[in-house]
Amino acid sequence: MAKSMFEAVAVIGAGTMGNGIAQTFATYGAKVLLVDLSEDALKKGVLAIEGSLARVVKKGVITDADAKATLARITTNSKLEAITNVPLVVEAVSERPDVKAKVFSQLDRQCPPATILATNTSSISITQIAASTKRADRVIGMHFMNPVPVMKLVEVIRGQETSDETTAKIIAASESIEKVPVAANDFPGFVSNRVLMPMINEAIFCLMEGVATKEGIDTVMKLGMAHPMGPLALADLIGLDVCLDILEVLHQGLGDDKYRPCPLLRRYVAAGNLGKKSGKGFYDYSKA
Ligand code: CAA
Repeated sequence: MAKSMFEAVAVIGAGTMGNGIAQTFATYGAKVLLVDLSEDALKKGVLAIEGSLARVVKKGVITDADAKATLARITTNSKLEAITNVPLVVEAVSERPDVKAKVFSQLDRQCPPATILATNTSSISITQIAASTKRADRVIGMHFMNPVPVMKLVEVIRGQETSDETTAKIIAASESIEKVPVAANDFPGFVSNRVLMPMINEAIFCLMEGVATKEGIDTVMKLGMAHPMGPLALADLIGLDVCLDILEVLHQGLGDDKYRPCPLLRRYVAAGNLGKKSGKGFYDYSKA
């Protein structure tokens, strides 16, 4: 098994992305400190990691002993102050610029100068996040895909001031955990969401206009274009609120109406139907 280039990593945010990132680094031998202000979120995050590792054990990819050792490498803490001496921090808190700015400014004050501060943001400007620190050259985007333990891609996004050295380190670190890094520059939505979200949005317009049923739309994309899941099911997996936030960033940041969020997406989000995580989105997950 390959070994993580960074032997110790702190991950902030124990939600879907954060716990997947923590699991992945721990799988490759890194000691991981998983931080979330909510004890409940930490408990749920660890449960999710246990469940995900159990799947991998069941497949025979790793042994039960490997899974236990991976779990043992993950410790949790509900205070940001607990992050002191790690070479890499990966932030995966909620997608709100004000929250990210607060976290990064505190991390900048308490972490050693050499620590790289990475963000898993799916669309907030890396340059803007870096501006809340005094180390913009060591702030970078490290954008994992959901489900993190399965998806190979890491989009590595350079902010305006990110150094070549930081970029090279994060590319090497991604490879050391057997991901495939792709470098991108700091424009709204980077590459992944600039291409993905218009497709999801268009699928929602198709649903709203009655072009086909939700199952029909998803089947067209699965069987016609060989996508592993249809765009509406994928939107449910990502979270409809997250999709809406990203579309707003694309719409405002690029100033083009082709990115306007579909009114039906707004209605689902307003109703609290956020997808898999809330039990209901385009599909019903309450019995799953
Ligand atoms: N942990 C560990 N392993 C997992 C897992 C998890 N959470 N979820 C799935 N797997 C593994 C399964 O064990 C299985 O392994 P094998 O291939 O060895 O058998 C494999 O992944 C496939 O899983 P399943 O057979 O259960 O289900 P599936 O074949 O339907 O695949 C899927 C599920 C991997 C999610 C697949 O449907 C898929 O690739 N979907 C597209 C996902 C995608 O596009 N993600 C990107 C979203 S965009 C994003 O994240 C960025 C953003 O900013 C919004």
